[in-house]
Formats: sequence, C-alpha cells, structure tokens
Amino acid sequence: MHNIWRHTAPANIALIKYMGKTDASSNIPTNSSLSYTLNNYLTTVELELAEHDQWQPWNEQNPFNIALTETAQQRFIKHLQFIKKQLNCPAHFIIRSTNNFPANCGIASSASSFAALTKAAVQAICELKQIPLLSIEQQARLSQQGSGSSCRSFYSPWCLWQGDNVKPVDLAYKELDHAVILVNAGTKAVSSSSAHQRVTTSLLFSNRVERAEQRLTILLDMLSQSHWKDAFQIVWEEFWDMHALFETARPSFGYMTADSMKVLQYVRDCWQQYKDGPLTTLDAGPNVHLLFRPDQQSLKTALLQYLQEHYHVI
Ligand code: PMV
Repeated sequence: MHNIWRHTAPANIALIKYMGKTDASSNIPTNSSLSYTLNNYLTTVELELAEHDQWQPWNEQNPFNIALTETAQQRFIKHLQFIKKQLNCPAHFIIRSTNNFPANCGIASSASSFAALTKAAVQAICELKQIPLLSIEQQARLSQQGSGSSCRSFYSPWCLWQGDNVKPVDLAYKELDHAVILVNAGTKAVSSSSAHQRVTTSLLFSNRVERAEQRLTILLDMLSQSHWKDAFQIVWEEFWDMHALFETARPSFGYMTADSMKVLQYVRDCWQQYKDGPLTTLDAGPNVHLLFRPDQQSLKTALLQYLQEHYHVI
C-alpha cells in the first residue's frame, strides 16, 4: 500500500471562453467553451498521508516551484476536503505541488493544478478505500467544482465543456505549436473568479450566451473541415468579445496593455501579408497566445523572431 501519490495534469487554453457562471458555488458555466490542451505545461501534485490536511512547498529543488499564497493554499485544501467528503474518506494529506513552467508566464496554472490535485486525490482515496477508480468523466466533474476550466484539462487535444458535460472532440488539427508573447509577467489585478461575477454587469452580457454558442458551432465546423483562416476569425472575435465584457462592466476593468495591442496589430499584419498566421487569443490577462499548425514552421520563425526582439516569448 502506498502512502504517497503523484499525478500530473496539463494546462489548457480556451478558444471559446468560459466567462460567467449560472451557479457560482459549483462553477456551472453560462456558456459552452472549447479548449486546446497544452501538454507541455504541466503541474504535478503529490499527496502524502498526514495527521491533518495541509499544503507544503515541493520537497525537491525546482526552478519553477510554486509559493502559493495563503488564499491559494486554502482553496487547494478546500478542494481536497470536498473530494474526501464526496468519497467519504477520513484520511488526511499533505499536498505538495510544482509546475514545469514558470509562474506568471501568461499560462494560468489553476486548471493544471486543480486537475492534478483531483487526479491525485481520487487515486489516493480509491486505493485507500479499495474501491474502483472513478472514471475520467467523474474526475473531470469533481475538478470543475475546484476550478471550472480545470475540467477541460482531462481531455486532449480538444475539449468541449457544456453545462455539466465535459468531453473530448475530434477535430482536424491534432497537434499545434503553442507560444505565449509575454507582455506582462505580473500578477493580475482582477482574478478570474472576480471577472466571472463582474462581467454580468455589462450591458453586452445579455446576448453573450447566443454569441458564444453561435461561434462555438461555427468554430467546430471550421476546425473539423480544416478551414484555418475562418477559425482564426472566430477565435479573434471571441477573445475581443470577452475583453469587451471586461471593459464594459460597471465599473469597468481590463487586462490589455498597449503592448498587447502592438502584438495583436503585428499578428494581424502578418495575416494580411502572408494570408496565413496563427490562431490568436488572450485569456483574462495581457499576454497573447498563438497556436501554429505544424506546417507553419517558417512563418512561425519569422513572426516570433520579430516579437522576440521586443518581448519575452515562451
Ligand atoms: O476556471 P477559472 O475560474 O479560472 O476561469 C477561467 C476563465 C478564462 O481563463 C478567462 C477563460 C477560459 O475559458 O479558460
């Protein structure tokens, strides 16, 4: 019998965004979302049997070790306790977690962290209680309660999350190259949990579901039929829609900076010049995420070469 369990989960980037909740306590999304899983960006969580539930720093040297804030530690412990309660488990654990990517690099680690914690907790509890391991679908649903977007990290390369249904989708592009143009590495002034609440005050929010669902239908179609340029257009409109919700909330808030705008302008110029380019999106932050097809290597090199002269690219 083990007394230490380790699990890993990837981050993901949404192309149709989860923004707004119909039920904040269980993270039920207002609209469906579609994400691409970032299999190179991983969080590892280790659980060890202990006298009481606690969080500890990772026990090995690692340049990307995470120093969780007190609030983040409590959120993590609360999620572990939620899973224990669901599975009727009296044991206690030390939680340790680490990333293989730097914090504040424009990739939210909450999805990968909560997915990895859920996997480790489910594995540990099922083993201790000698019950069958929960299905991936059941694990994704549990994870959703801790961090909504984490439920999408259970499927790869594409994941569709609709209400309480999370599932993989088979699309034409199985493997994409992901890059982040890091225009600002600082922590965000408005957390995504707070953004989910604040967007509902925007007048644009009343038709948000229709817009997102319509885009989702079109995007799934475009990505199935390898219509890359049309997919770019939809993904571009979608991140602008989410950022417009932020900017038109009452009171308004926002994440984009002048540098985000410069990068976006550059990407648009690239599309105009080459009639081709990367899918482009922003999360609730100022950094620009680019997704390239594997056959776009020379275009990617040219585009990133320029951007690297001005920004940190990862
Ligand atoms: O899972 P949360 O509550 O951190 O929300 C994530 C929201 C966005 O990253 C902005 C969009 C998304 O769908 O991932």
